[in-house]
Amino acid sequence: ANIDWDAAAAEKGNYPHFMLKEIFEQPETIENAIRGRINYEMGTAILNGLGFSPCELAQISRIVIAACGSSMHAGMVAEYYFEDIAGISTSVEQAAEFRYRNPIIEPNTLVIPISQSGETADTIAAVREAVGKGAYISALCNVVGSTIAREAGRGVYLHAGPEISVASTKAFSSQVAVLLLMALLLGRNRRLSRSEGCELVREIEQTPELIRSVLAQAEEIRAIAKRYAGFDDFFYIGRGCLYPTALEGALKLKEISYVHAEGYHAAELKHGPISLLDERHPVLALANDIPGRDKILGNIQECRARRAPVVAVATAGDREVENLTDDVIFIPHCSRFIAPLPTTVALQLFAYYIAVERGCEIDQPRNLAKSVTVE
Ligand code: G6P
Repeated sequence: ANIDWDAAAAEKGNYPHFMLKEIFEQPETIENAIRGRINYEMGTAILNGLGFSPCELAQISRIVIAACGSSMHAGMVAEYYFEDIAGISTSVEQAAEFRYRNPIIEPNTLVIPISQSGETADTIAAVREAVGKGAYISALCNVVGSTIAREAGRGVYLHAGPEISVASTKAFSSQVAVLLLMALLLGRNRRLSRSEGCELVREIEQTPELIRSVLAQAEEIRAIAKRYAGFDDFFYIGRGCLYPTALEGALKLKEISYVHAEGYHAAELKHGPISLLDERHPVLALANDIPGRDKILGNIQECRARRAPVVAVATAGDREVENLTDDVIFIPHCSRFIAPLPTTVALQLFAYYIAVERGCEIDQPRNLAKSVTVE
């Protein structure tokens, strides 16, 4: 792949680790992901690289996302976007599963491979499988000119700049932001009204500011992380778009701090994991004030009844969550579509500071590679 990024962008500057630098870059990388891509007049997105005329867009009747790791989690968030905003039935497949399962590709299916590096072996193979089956393809990559970007032929770049830390942070948030723009475009191509589109544009544009306000709480999050750095098992729970956000939060912690962490849909607690809960199993509960919050409150009570310490992410001012939990990270109010972004940033910082406390090798965790180019 030819990388034309400025060498300066690959320096750590004053940050002790690339991961922390990349976490703090997110207000700008999100701005880069949306810059020039909004049509304010029409309340829609401009994604020329996507490569479809309005007429072709209108033909798309199904979306299949193929990806691995954090990119797959971004795809899982987008499943809610494409279904809720654009009304298009969407499924997300681990790329290896897609390539070996002989997937059914109906006419008018759009396959979206998502890959920061554009070089993940299984995702490349998924692209080839989709090309061979005649799907429409539009890729989401960060690395310009990467294999997936080239083979897909069309797509949208993230413009997040080089991501050096093995654990993905800014690429993930940019993927989510670009996928939201794609859903906006597809929605406006269908039943989403101009005023609804404009409202979504306003929400998207607030994201960098929301992320800044989470970053401003880094010291508070660090203080919380210190209290939990001695635990060896964590559960992360969420619902709706915050379910894949919980998976991503748990993945960050596993990747960099070698702590066992599992993300679960909150409704799955009762179907197994609850049997493990006790005072040695903290639960990170994503309790933002979006649909599903009241159910999460019930889940928090179930955890507390088993004496599990609970750390919540909640909407600023939510005293009910504060009173129910041991620690809370507050996020400014935002809609359910936007909530995964600031929430993820809070979980990235939490994982980062736990790894710092445990003295882990943060940018290059053992056994992991930045891009998995072999099976
Ligand atoms: C590796 C990295 C992850 C990344 C995944 C997919 O496992 O360690 O951070 O999410 O590959 O990479 P891609 O470049 O395809 O997004």
